[in-house]
Order: sequence, then C-alpha cells, then structure tokens
Amino acid sequence: GSWYDADIERVIISEQQIRDKIAELAKQVSADHADAADGVLLVCVLKGAVMFMADFARELGRLGPPSEMEFMAVSSYGQGTTSSGVVRILKDLDRDIAGRRVIVVEDIVDSGLTLSWLLKYLESRGAASIEVVALFRKPEAIKVPVEVRYVGFDIPSEFVVGYGLDFAERYREMPYVGVLKPEVYARS
Ligand code: PRP
Ligand code: MN
Ligand code: MG
Repeated sequence: GSWYDADIERVIISEQQIRDKIAELAKQVSADHADAADGVLLVCVLKGAVMFMADFARELGRLGPPSEMEFMAVSSYGQGTTSSGVVRILKDLDRDIAGRRVIVVEDIVDSGLTLSWLLKYLESRGAASIEVVALFRKPEAIKVPVEVRYVGFDIPSEFVVGYGLDFAERYREMPYVGVLKPEVYARS
C-alpha cells in the first residue's frame, strides 16, 4: 500500500467506484448539453475539485460537447474540520462568463455555504445558465439549500479525505476517499 493507507480507518468510496461514477456523470452532462453550440464552461472550485475536474473533463471530452476550463479558488474551511461560513476568493475567474453555459465542478457539498455563495457570485456575472456537478454530497450536513443537478455519491456526515479532499492541506492526492483514524487528528 501507499503511505497514506496507514492513516485511513475506513475506505468510503474506492478508486474504481469514483472512476465508474465520473463516466456516468459525464454521460449525463453530455446528453443534457449536446446542443450547446459554444460548448460548456467548466468552473473548477480549487483546490478540492482539482482531481475531479481533471477526470471529469477528460470523460466529458470523449463524448462532447467541447468544454473550456476556468478555475476559481475559494476557501471556507481554512485549517479546521468544520466550515467557517466565511467564503474568501483566493483566485477569481480569468475570463468573462456572460452568456455561457457554466457548469460548476465541485468535489463536495457539505453545509452548502461555499456553493450557495459561489452560485450567487456567478449569477451576478451574467452566465446563460449555471449548473453544478458535485462528486460527493453530505445530505445530513446541509445548512443552506443549493440546487445540485448532478451528484455522484451521497455520503455520511463524517470528515473524509482523499481525491482532492484535504485535512490541513494533506491527503488530497489519495486516489480514494476515506475516514482518517482519530489519532491522526490528535497528532496535529
Ligand atoms: C471544501 C470543499 C468544498 C467545500 C464544501 O473546500 O472542497 O469546496 O469545502 O463545504 P461547504 O459545503 O460546507 O461549504 P475548502 O473550503 O476546504 O477549500 P479547499 O477546496 O481548498 O480544500
Ligand atoms: Mn473546496
Ligand atoms: Mg479543504
């Protein structure tokens, strides 16, 4: 195994499950947007969505329509394990999104605070349509209602890491999603 396996108590979603689900999500998005004349604009929410963006865009690319990639970095968690509710823009869009079909690519919807803030922000920039594809969602943790058109997995409300999800900036590179052993928190 890899170095991180020793820190994981339990695997929640395997590498293979993630791969299969992303192919499924890309198929749905492709079918729904087959008529998009100027393609879709994927907006990746850094840093957590970096893995999902790369894999999802590749899968969508096989099927079409063509996509363009934009990246925003926002942070609401900082170093902690619970959302502060304060969303900061660390990196803004590089280009105008007015008139575009925007698909926000998010790793996880937890309280929904990040996404609800981001959707309002993108609406104010005049996108033609805005939809969300989120690989994970914690239904029990939701604090503000957000419409997520495409959801990969509903998972229990536990602090999970891997496939982009971090604990204090670590474990993002894990290819699967799991729960950390309690002693890992105690260490930091
Ligand atoms: C995490 C995650 C989502 C958000 C979800 O990002 O990647 O973007 O929190 O939580 P919420 O629904 O309660 O708002 P984080 O703020 O930790 O930044 P990161 O992506 O750089 O890790
Ligand atoms: Mn994030
Ligand atoms: Mg984080």
